[in-house]
Amino acid sequence: MKLIFLGPPGAGKGTQALGVSSKLKVPHISTGDMLRAAVKNQTPTGLAAKQFMDAGRLVPDAVLIDMVRERLSMDDCRNGYLLDGFPRTVDQAEALEEISPPDAVVNIAVPDGKLLERLAGRRVCGKCMGTFHISKLNDERICPVCKSELIHREDDKPETITRRLKVYREQTAPLIGYYESKGKLRTVDGDNRPEDVLLSILASLE
Ligand code: AP5
Repeated sequence: MKLIFLGPPGAGKGTQALGVSSKLKVPHISTGDMLRAAVKNQTPTGLAAKQFMDAGRLVPDAVLIDMVRERLSMDDCRNGYLLDGFPRTVDQAEALEEISPPDAVVNIAVPDGKLLERLAGRRVCGKCMGTFHISKLNDERICPVCKSELIHREDDKPETITRRLKVYREQTAPLIGYYESKGKLRTVDGDNRPEDVLLSILASLE
């Protein structure tokens, strides 16, 4: 299956991707993770993307479209994919229609008021890529899974979160109507316990 996760920053796309990709046996492709790896490795793409990401703005479409085109041509995408963070603009969505059109799009809906708190309290593991919230951690510096150091993302600072939510509303939210008109959209309530959100997503795909 070719699947897209849509939703504002903090909706739980990354959190849910783990369970859904292993259930569907398709690779989880997070453009945010790919860009952060490029920044860490100081590749030309990473160097170009960093200023946009730190400011909470979108990286230019051409960079993302080339990156996703190359990733989807890899062997592990033969049976499908789970895209998390792409497309984020109508131009990216149009490009994906040509590269490898999705079968379904899951929109994870969460009220704005919850997003700020979720993102400000998020910690991520640079090694196992786990995502956690400080309210569930005994020590907010140590990954409970692999014991590596947890990171507070640069773009999870309150002023950058506000910018990311604005960018989402202006540039990405129009994709809800775009995929609805193609009959591919399913919306699930993301304001529930993570295990219940996972069940809603799987039910929406049956
Ligand atoms: P990206 O990494 O994709 O960030 P995002 O879309 O803003 O999404 P997040 O990772 O912030 O949120 P999420 O929905 O995955 O939530 P999570 O599961 O972590 O992109 C980063 C940047 O890269 C962009 O700003 C842009 O610059 C660039 N970029 C990437 N793709 C691009 C593209 N296509 N075009 C242009 N630029 C691009 O959960 C959040 C928190 O909530 C966690 O603490 C988690 O533990 C908690 N949580 C999750 N689920 C629940 C729940 N059910 N109940 C309570 N808490 C929960």
